[in-house]
Amino acid sequence: MQLLTHLTLILSVGAVLIEATAPPQPHHQQQHGKPPNFIYIVSDDHDHTTATPTYMPETYKHLASRGRIYSHLYTPMSVCCPSRTGFWRSQHGHSHNITDVKLPFGGWDLFYDRGYQEDNLGVWLRKAGYRTAYTGKLMNGNTVANAQTKPVTDVFDESAILLDPYTYSYTNSSLSWNGGPPRAYSGNYSTDLVRDVGLTFLDEAVKKQREDQDGKPFFLGVAPIGPHSTIRQDIDNGGFSNPIPAQRHRHLYNDTIIPRTDNFNPDSPSGANFVRKLPKLNDTVIDYIDEWHRDRLRALRSVDELVGAIVRRAEELGILDNTYIVYTSDNGFSTGGQHRRPPSKSLGYEEDIRVPAFIRGPGIKAGSTSHETWSNIDLAASFAEIAGATEHAGYSLDGRIMDWAQNHHTHGHAAKQDSTHHLSEYWVENYPEGIFGGSPSTAKYKTLRLREHSSDDWAYTVWCNGERELYDMLKDPYQMNNLLDDVSEYGALNSTRKAHRIAKRLDALTLSLKRCAGEECRVLWRRLFPQGEVGNLEESLQAKYDGYFDALPRVHFDDCELGFFADKEQPDWSGQLRFGERA
Ligand SMILES: *[C@@H]1O[C@H](CO)[C@@H](O)[C@H](O)[C@H]1NC(C)=O
Ligand SMILES: *[C@@H]1O[C@H](CO)[C@@H](O)[C@H](O)[C@H]1NC(C)=O
Ligand SMILES: *[C@@H]1O[C@H](CO)[C@@H](O)[C@H](O)[C@H]1NC(C)=O
Ligand SMILES: *[C@@H]1O[C@H](CO)[C@@H](O)[C@H](O)[C@H]1NC(C)=O
Ligand SMILES: *[C@@H]1O[C@H](CO)[C@@H](O)[C@H](O)[C@H]1NC(C)=O
Ligand SMILES: *[C@@H]1O[C@H](CO)[C@@H](O)[C@H](O)[C@H]1NC(C)=O
Repeated sequence: MQLLTHLTLILSVGAVLIEATAPPQPHHQQQHGKPPNFIYIVSDDHDHTTATPTYMPETYKHLASRGRIYSHLYTPMSVCCPSRTGFWRSQHGHSHNITDVKLPFGGWDLFYDRGYQEDNLGVWLRKAGYRTAYTGKLMNGNTVANAQTKPVTDVFDESAILLDPYTYSYTNSSLSWNGGPPRAYSGNYSTDLVRDVGLTFLDEAVKKQREDQDGKPFFLGVAPIGPHSTIRQDIDNGGFSNPIPAQRHRHLYNDTIIPRTDNFNPDSPSGANFVRKLPKLNDTVIDYIDEWHRDRLRALRSVDELVGAIVRRAEELGILDNTYIVYTSDNGFSTGGQHRRPPSKSLGYEEDIRVPAFIRGPGIKAGSTSHETWSNIDLAASFAEIAGATEHAGYSLDGRIMDWAQNHHTHGHAAKQDSTHHLSEYWVENYPEGIFGGSPSTAKYKTLRLREHSSDDWAYTVWCNGERELYDMLKDPYQMNNLLDDVSEYGALNSTRKAHRIAKRLDALTLSLKRCAGEECRVLWRRLFPQGEVGNLEESLQAKYDGYFDALPRVHFDDCELGFFADKEQPDWSGQLRFGERA
């Protein structure tokens, strides 16, 4: 049944959803007799809307035209450290519970104290025979104070990690090499510094691979801070300002402004919760955020050059036929103006959760695009799968195996995974950036993206205060028409209107995913309908299932207290909630 559903989906969607998806090539180990290398380039706060050929010419030349664009790859939590933890652990936020950039709910200290530094992708790859190297930003809270006491040396053979409080200083970085004391790089432009260290690590990894008897494959992570805002950590929260571009890029884009999309500074309020209360922006604020946007694009240009430099070096070293190269970002970003917002991230809107994603490597058809729905936790599961490293994880990964990483061995397994959904979660504060941003607001919510066939593309959000949002992303990609905004409390789902019937289905799916772990996270409708009666939204909307969906409890938070407390978000999914159990 599942395989049939999968095939039907591919056949009926055809070119629309999965444009030019080449059949996966035979497994690499069989093809070359050796596992592939991975180069993972991850930028900071780069939204998908600015990942265009104009602003990223090198990335398009080297990765998009020679590899595949993943148009709908999302972050499980739209802020740096929680998203990065999601990647390294291939887990949802509710599974790893690193929900903030700092204590008590997040940061490197908590990651380390929970023992996650001994059980993550880097460690699994090392156990599977990989050499691992990383430079740039790893987590919030890698600091000059803990670089030596809580080092990253369990994860990486070679490392040069940016340290707070200088991480977001573009011209005064500090690096810890291999768990050593902080070294200052005053005057070096941060993105260029990370590029240069990345190139050195690449040279060394290839040199060692060739010298080594066993020819170890490698994983190299390169993580520039661009195009993140500058943060002066001596000013509490007021410290966010424009990113600083490299001198050579300061003249660029001087006539560019933030695109005036449907959601840019609208006349009427939009969104929900505190977003709905934001005042209309005046010209002073708009000029300010337009200049901020230009500086982001300029800072992004150095990131793009970094991508070009790394790929060119990989080419010179002759390793491209056995190396996967990924470019993505930890989370998206609202450039400011959308729904009247200041520059910021961490909400469930498309700007914040959707990230750029490009993958080039053996078996990936040059110039192709995949419109399937993925998450950064799936990227990590895919690396682990190809490397044969999954067995070294101390738990079952939440992430799905992406098309490029599927092979004969995993095919049956892979066919059971849905690439039609994504869950984003958040439990702490949203920080407005810039001088006009105002104070932080609590942003506790869950957002489900469901993208099935060419006819269903929905974004559903439940906030901690009970407010709900539903957008038809095909008709309303800028999320201006909340189909549930007539009722703001839990009763929003009580009517028989079409939008409410859809929302009930999406709420049920969210309920089934909100504490999922491992395999449970990789399938969707089968958790509700284990017998396979329903495999997609359209089937679920048959009137005969109304009674089932009406009777299910709603996703719910008791309050908006900061942090993830399971007892304040009851009930969770249980087997008794499956269709057929309660008849
Ligand atoms: C630059 O970083 C060093 C430490 O690496 C610090 O002592 C110095 O104060 C910083 N300079 C500025 C202007 O922030
Ligand atoms: C830092 O900048 C100096 C001066 O431009 C340059 O010589 C040096 O190579 C840079 N260091 C790194 C690691 O890029
Ligand atoms: C933008 O830059 C170009 C070339 O550097 C220059 O000719 C033009 O006057 C600049 N425009 C503005 C608005 O500064
Ligand atoms: C524009 O709005 C900002 C933020 O509310 C405010 O600080 C500023 O005084 C306003 N400027 C004018 C000219 O109204
Ligand atoms: C919606 O239904 C729930 C229970 O299903 C009930 O508690 C609530 O009062 C209803 N709300 C409205 C506005 O009808
Ligand atoms: C998440 O972590 C916080 C901070 O350690 C803790 O208070 C909370 O109970 C945890 N939640 C869950 C569900 O484990």
